[in-house]
Amino acid sequence: MAKIQKIKGFADLFADEAGKYTFLENTARAVFSRYGYGELRTPVVEFTELFAKGIGQDTDVVGKEMYTFPDRKGRSLTLRPEATAGVVRAFIESGAYQPGGVYRYFTFGPMFRYERPQKGRMRQFHQINVECFGSPSAFTDAEVLLMLADFLTAVELERLSFEINTLGCPDCRPAYRATLAEFLGKIPDEALCEDCRRRRAANPLRVLDCKVPGCREASAAAPSIQDKACGRCRANFDIVRAALSGAGLAYVLNPRLVRGLDYYQGTTFEVVSGDIGSQSSVAGGGRYDGLIRTLGGPDAPGVGFACGMERLALLLAGRPAEKPDFHIAVLDPAGLAAALSLAQQLRAAGFSGLCDHEAGSMKSRLRAADRSGARQCLIIGGDELATGTVVVKSLATGEQTTVPMERAASALGK
Ligand code: HAM
Repeated sequence: MAKIQKIKGFADLFADEAGKYTFLENTARAVFSRYGYGELRTPVVEFTELFAKGIGQDTDVVGKEMYTFPDRKGRSLTLRPEATAGVVRAFIESGAYQPGGVYRYFTFGPMFRYERPQKGRMRQFHQINVECFGSPSAFTDAEVLLMLADFLTAVELERLSFEINTLGCPDCRPAYRATLAEFLGKIPDEALCEDCRRRRAANPLRVLDCKVPGCREASAAAPSIQDKACGRCRANFDIVRAALSGAGLAYVLNPRLVRGLDYYQGTTFEVVSGDIGSQSSVAGGGRYDGLIRTLGGPDAPGVGFACGMERLALLLAGRPAEKPDFHIAVLDPAGLAAALSLAQQLRAAGFSGLCDHEAGSMKSRLRAADRSGARQCLIIGGDELATGTVVVKSLATGEQTTVPMERAASALGK
């Protein structure tokens, strides 16, 4: 039969790689819980409508990238392309919200986007996602950013650039949008890529985000949202900037940072790495005050971010795999039962290890022990069985001693 292969853009993560994800998740859990965040796990499949309404029909994510399919009753379902919409849905559905309350959640897990796979871009990828509901304060924006920085420091990722912007609010963005559309309307067609030619009227802010060099050049002198934002948005942005500076977190102002999902307003940010190629954004987020209401919930504000774990994993140095403490080599089939029982005793005593379930020659069993990476090999042959002993051999130095089987644990030491 032809070999069944994994789907393009999907990955198998074996121990070395999976260990990085576990490390990232465990560290995130520890850091976020210090800020009062609790874990929330939501389904990976939701009704399509949730994402269409939440993320926006005109976004690439909803327009081109969703894995959408009918279920057996013909209802349209979608594999989540991001976590925020599902977390908001769960929050609304829980009925937990009380005016004045602040609710803090983090979520880990796979997300799905039908994008062109490349380094740092997968069709199934994993996010570490954070959402804070209920606080309109710019100090919350600042704290969320500082928590993200805290996490990235805890996983020892440096050389990252924090880029921040404000996208204005429903009071000031429409005027900015019109000013920007007017500016973009004067650019000759041939100076813009096909997408931007279409976007400049329909979604002018997205032109600022285009990576095509010609479009960047043509829009270089575009008016900046940071200059056109209303007093409240500017005051909030000043609070965020002052708080970041006060905490010693260096940042870059990026007036072109518009994000790819439609729910944002006010503070937005991305964390960018120069070390992983074109898919350089390792985290992104911002404030989305209208989203909970758009999805049928209370008029509660929100702010959050997500880190892409594939991209963080690319930046993490190889983590040494855990090695077993022992490998029990069995040379005589009559020793298999004693070996199994010894292995159980050693594990109960806190050691990790492997045990032969088939006997073999000294040479083949020592080779297997070496391959396992174990520190010590415990050898049980005919002589040891007859005397109730075991040979303890250091696989690093080759030194060996014979001890009574019940003393194997103390011979292993730690
Ligand atoms: P996003 O910018 O679409 O935001 O994704 C966040 C991060 O997920 C990106 O910075 C990137 O590291 C990673 N990512 C996105 N797509 C892929 C992919 N195809 N392969 C690998 N990594 C990828 C959101 O998803 C928002 N929900 C973040 C948020 C939470 N905003 C507020 N709360």
